[in-house]
Amino acid sequence: MSEEDNADVQLEARLREQEYFRPSAEFVGQANATDPAIHDEVGEFPDGFERYAELLDWDEHWDQTFDGSNPPFFEWFVGGKLNASYNCVDRHLDERKNQTALLWEGSDGEQENITYQDLYRRVNETAAALRSVGVEEDDVVTIHLPMVPALPITMLACARIGAPHSVVFAGFSAQALAERVDSADSEYVVTIDGYYRRGEFLDHIEKADEGVAEADNDPEVLTWYRHDEPNAEVSDDYVPVDDLLDEHKHETVEPVARDAEDPLFLMYTSGTTGKPKGCQHRTGGYLAYAAATSKNVLDIEPEDTYWCAADIGWITGHSYIVYGPLALGTTSVMYEDTPDYPHKGRIWEIAERYDVDIFHTSPTAVRMFMKWGEEYPEEYDFDFRHMTTVGEPIQPEAWLWYYKHIGDEDAVIVDTWWQTETGGHLITNLPALDDMKPGSAGKACPGIEPALVDDSGEKLPAASGQAGNLIIEQPWPSMLQTVYGNDERFISTYWGDFSDTDSDDWRDWNYKAGDGAVQAQDGYWRVLGRLDDVMNVAGHRLGTMELESAVSEVQSVAEAAVAAREDTQKGEVPDVYAVVREGVDPTDEVRQEIVAAVEDEIGKFARPANVMFVDDLPKTRSGKIMRRILENISNDEGLGNTTTLRDPSVPEDIREQVQAD
Ligand code: WT7
Repeated sequence: MSEEDNADVQLEARLREQEYFRPSAEFVGQANATDPAIHDEVGEFPDGFERYAELLDWDEHWDQTFDGSNPPFFEWFVGGKLNASYNCVDRHLDERKNQTALLWEGSDGEQENITYQDLYRRVNETAAALRSVGVEEDDVVTIHLPMVPALPITMLACARIGAPHSVVFAGFSAQALAERVDSADSEYVVTIDGYYRRGEFLDHIEKADEGVAEADNDPEVLTWYRHDEPNAEVSDDYVPVDDLLDEHKHETVEPVARDAEDPLFLMYTSGTTGKPKGCQHRTGGYLAYAAATSKNVLDIEPEDTYWCAADIGWITGHSYIVYGPLALGTTSVMYEDTPDYPHKGRIWEIAERYDVDIFHTSPTAVRMFMKWGEEYPEEYDFDFRHMTTVGEPIQPEAWLWYYKHIGDEDAVIVDTWWQTETGGHLITNLPALDDMKPGSAGKACPGIEPALVDDSGEKLPAASGQAGNLIIEQPWPSMLQTVYGNDERFISTYWGDFSDTDSDDWRDWNYKAGDGAVQAQDGYWRVLGRLDDVMNVAGHRLGTMELESAVSEVQSVAEAAVAAREDTQKGEVPDVYAVVREGVDPTDEVRQEIVAAVEDEIGKFARPANVMFVDDLPKTRSGKIMRRILENISNDEGLGNTTTLRDPSVPEDIREQVQAD
């Protein structure tokens, strides 16, 4: 069979219709969302979304549910006032102050049970500490913290005083931190001396040192300590949070009543071009939607022990470790280290120890568990009622393994499709209402109107089985408000392609997701992956342009392009194709420099899988690099149409050079 035929067979196997799996009667009997009328009720646009807002406590009721008069700057629950920290903490004190809010497990088995009362104290004192160094309402606070309690506590403290947070995933490099500090005009960075990776203490504060030196802004740095005393060298210029907490012991800080439309946080994410975009999320609509989907999709009850094994440094952790679960008053688990430290049964050991009811992870993790083997989960006694996947399409084989070996053929699984920009789930089953179908994300969430268009914007018929560009036709409360400081970019990235941008009518505006998708006859959506130059590496989103600009920092490199190679473990990994300058030898040393440049500019998690030296890159006559051709080479597929290239012999040459390597 030729390579091309082989690829076709694989695609067909992937798209083959799968059988359905029913949720157990026991699950359905206890589920939160069991009435199919929820789709009609919430779908009553826009008032249906009021049910979501009613899950929260408001200081002032909203006057208008939705204001679509200035598309695409949509407003939700206009005139309403609320505080996110009050909703996630204070309002639970009457009923469950002694219930654990955050259940933290450290690298070496250290545990912290933070009750709602503890959380209340710690968030208040931290809010007082932030204020004491000058943080005011609307100041952006950059938080560069790993998976330790200080992270959600600092976020909630910011929310309490109305200071939007911008959490930068701890794995990002100093330069990535600096870029985000500058982009957000942030005058405060909150960090920590270090944390544990595979049992070793990792110096984290050096990234703040380097990042602050790099940044044009001169932010004030506040630092937490992982232990009572610092374990790394801490600059005298930094303010120890512990000292401030001592000064503000027992202080309470009145939660600031924020407008529903005031920003709660920024979350930077990679795009097709240029620097990462600061997705700006509003307070009211975001929190309402995160709480409602936590309830209806994740089926969270306050008495559950819920574990989303993601990192709070990404949107999944914001919506579904911190804001959604805590708004519902449940117990949310956090774990500091990697799933294989000190052994490959670590996740299941924690699940057993805390009797976790709901477990949330990524397809990449499922594939890894699968590779390690079922003997690890089998050693432990845990019993999940509900399991989630998020971040990438899940292959039916991985789904079936997860269902059988982790879910005991009894837990329900929801695959949730959404994005940093969408704030919460948009396509996923409601677990008691829809049968599961391996490999499909499922149905549209209540009130969400996905559709497919071809490249010219023509709408494809519903449930046609044809692939197209995924768009969302109707606004929803947790959609990003804008790209921080760049409304133009917000419009061009998400709306320009498939909307009538001259229209004042919100119905003419369609949100472009950037993903390709198919809707099967039964209405189930299958998301195929990004259509733009954005890669998905182990559930982490990376822009090829960002990678390329990091590589081109290397002196010896004349030109470079990055292509996504399919990877059985990580989904996709970056391959670098580099042309060296005249007179430079393409040595291993140059290769190392390229890898180091990516680690410095972005972070270790973005490290290229392969660096290949080539004589030339495939370019169109106008000089645009055709990454698709490189992608085909990386994935051993046919080269496709090369007639538009300036020099059609380039791809074949590259293929030969790569294979000779
Ligand atoms: C991109 C968004 C949303 C939280 C984590 C990622 C891909 C996300 C799924 C899914 C297929 C998925 C899409 C999307 N994606 N969930 N269930 N099935 N693809 O957030 O970093 O903003 O990435 O992840 O390509 O556009 P993100």
